[in-house]
Amino acid sequence: MKKVTVTTLYNKKKEGEKITAMTAYDFPFATLMDETGVDMILVGDSLGMVIQGGNSTLHVTMDEMIYHTRIVARACKRTMVVGDMPFMAYQTSVEDAVRNAGRFLKETDASAVKLEGGASVCDVIKAISTAGIPVQAHIGLTPQSVHQMGGFKVQRDEDRLMADALAVQEAGAFSVVLEGIPNHIAKAITEKLTIPTIGIGAGPDCDGQILVMHDMLGINSGHIPKFVKKYCNLGDEARKGIQGFIDEVKGGDFPAPEHCYNK
Ligand code: KIV
Ligand code: NA
Repeated sequence: MKKVTVTTLYNKKKEGEKITAMTAYDFPFATLMDETGVDMILVGDSLGMVIQGGNSTLHVTMDEMIYHTRIVARACKRTMVVGDMPFMAYQTSVEDAVRNAGRFLKETDASAVKLEGGASVCDVIKAISTAGIPVQAHIGLTPQSVHQMGGFKVQRDEDRLMADALAVQEAGAFSVVLEGIPNHIAKAITEKLTIPTIGIGAGPDCDGQILVMHDMLGINSGHIPKFVKKYCNLGDEARKGIQGFIDEVKGGDFPAPEHCYNK
């Protein structure tokens, strides 16, 4: 099966064909996504919240990202895998940024990295892409700046968002995630850029869409943002299975003869 590459994504934008992206953090779900045909998996630092149970993404380490990216990429025959650079993996210096970006390609089978920020991280984007590592930018609501933004808030400064989008494209980003911005701004950016935009809470006019898998599959029980659609309810299914096991063990109905080694 042919792997999705940056070229595939450019072609999709040119043809007006939507790009599908999801987050994943482990082998079994990445296998399901690869087999079902999602174009891109982001191993997001959102794992700090949906996998580790934290209240932000700030505590995630490079080693944790490498571990999850490795097991996701192992599952993907067709889907492109992007590793998310965690907080403090690229903010300290350009050299640190290139070294950490390189770890995703050396230590896992991911083919690209993502990092947050616009004009202010262009030196980093340029250095990483010059090293031969495709970089996806991420502007708008950038969760690693949660304290600076004063919470997870929709970003509405159109001039700044457009300037950031153009700057990351100019710096060499192959794509940009637009998170938590009004539809009309995402539309204007998508029309202006030659690189594909991937939206999350950015309306229908982006070149592609991404959602966090735990939100869209109904695994999370906590707060779900307005921009999420729940496509199924795996949490309820799992609860049913867990309750069934508890009931049958307590009632003496499990294991039944067919589950036993009788000889
Ligand atoms: O970490 C993440 O899951 C992300 C996506 C929401 C874009 O950055
Ligand atoms: Na992220």
